[in-house]
Amino acid sequence: MKEPIYLDNAATSYPKPEGVYLAVEQALRMGASPGRGGYQKALSAERLVFETRESLAELFNAGDSERIIFTANATTAINQALFGLLKKGDRVVTTSIEHNAVTRPLRALQDRGIEVVKVAADPVSGIVSAVALQEACLAAKTTLLLVNHCSNVFGSLQPIEGLGHWCHQHGILFLVDGSQSAGSFPVDFQALEVDLFAAPGHKSLLGPQGTGFLYVDKGLALTPLIYGGTGANSHSDLPPEELPERLECGTFNLPGLAGLNAAIAFINDIGVGKIRQHEVQLLDYLLQGLRQIDGVILYGPDSTELRGSAVSFNLKQRDPAEVGFILDQEENIGVRVGLQCAPDAHRSLGTYPQGTVRVSPGYFNTEAELKRFIQAIQRIAQQA
Ligand code: ALA
Repeated sequence: MKEPIYLDNAATSYPKPEGVYLAVEQALRMGASPGRGGYQKALSAERLVFETRESLAELFNAGDSERIIFTANATTAINQALFGLLKKGDRVVTTSIEHNAVTRPLRALQDRGIEVVKVAADPVSGIVSAVALQEACLAAKTTLLLVNHCSNVFGSLQPIEGLGHWCHQHGILFLVDGSQSAGSFPVDFQALEVDLFAAPGHKSLLGPQGTGFLYVDKGLALTPLIYGGTGANSHSDLPPEELPERLECGTFNLPGLAGLNAAIAFINDIGVGKIRQHEVQLLDYLLQGLRQIDGVILYGPDSTELRGSAVSFNLKQRDPAEVGFILDQEENIGVRVGLQCAPDAHRSLGTYPQGTVRVSPGYFNTEAELKRFIQAIQRIAQQA
C-alpha cells in the first residue's frame, strides 16, 4: 500500500498541529464544565474558553472578544446570523457561488417572506464583481449583503475589501462566510467593516471538528437560534441580553475549544502571512503540474493571487467520481469529488451535475506529495 496523502483540507485540515491533540486530551481530563461552577477546576475551564475567545479576537482584530460567539461549525454560525437577523420583508443580496450552508438557510427564509437575490459569478473565474453586487443591493431596499470570501469548490476569492465600508454608507449589513479563508488569509474585521463573520475552527484555523464561531459587530442584536442554560441569570426563563451568553447555551465543547486555542497559538507562531505564502507555493506547483496534463480541464481563476487553497478540475470524458475512486484505491490519495455541498457554485461554472475533482492542499502538505498526485493524474489521464 502506498503512503497515504491527504489533499482534502477544504473539508477539514489534517493533520492538526501536535499541540492541538495534546490540548484536546488535557481538556478532556480537566473534569469540569466551563461557566457551570465556582470551584477551581470549573474556573480553570472557564479561563480556557475565555483565552480561546481572546485569541480569536486578537487574530481577527475583533476589538472586543465578547463579540465572538462559539458555535459547532460555520453552518451553525451562518444559521444564527441569518435566522437571528432577518424578518419577513427583508431583502438579501448574495452570490451564485455559495455553499449549501448559505443557500439552504436562505431558501428556508425565502419561504418565510424574505427576498433573496443571487448575483452571478463570472463563469470562468468564479469571481463576482463588486460593482454587480453593489448594483443588486441598490435595486431595492436591501437588509444584508452576504458573500463567501473563498469558494470551497474553485478557490475563487471574492472582492470583499471595501464592500463593508460601502454597505455601511448605504445602510446595509455585511456578512462574510469565511469558511475557506479564516486562518490562511490575513482577515481584519475592523478594517473590513464586517457586521457578521462566520468561520469553522477545523479548517484553516487547524482546530478540532465541532468548533466554529460567529463574529457579531457592536450594536447588532440577534435573536438566539437556540435557547437553554447559560450558567448565569438562571432565575429567568429569558436568555441573557449580553453577548456572548445570549447566543451561546448548553455545555461548551471544551476539548474542541482547547484544541482551537492551541491551533491559534501555532498559527501565531508561524504567522498567517507565512501560511498563505506556503499555500500559494503549493498552489502554483499544483496548477503548473495539472496544466501540463493532456485532457485536464481546470476551473477557477488563473492567478494564485485570486485563489484560496481549493483547485477543481475534470479529466475529459471521465466521471470525477471515478477519478476520485482510482486516486483512493490505487494511489491512497484522498480528495473530494462531486458537488462538494455547493451545487450553485457548480451551476455557475458549468460543472453541474457531475461536479469536479477537488484537491485542496493545506499547510502541512509538501511539493513531494503534490508531485505524486500530479503523476497519478497523468497516469489516470493516459488510461482514458
Ligand atoms: N464544506 C466542506 C467542503 O467543502 C465540508 O468539503
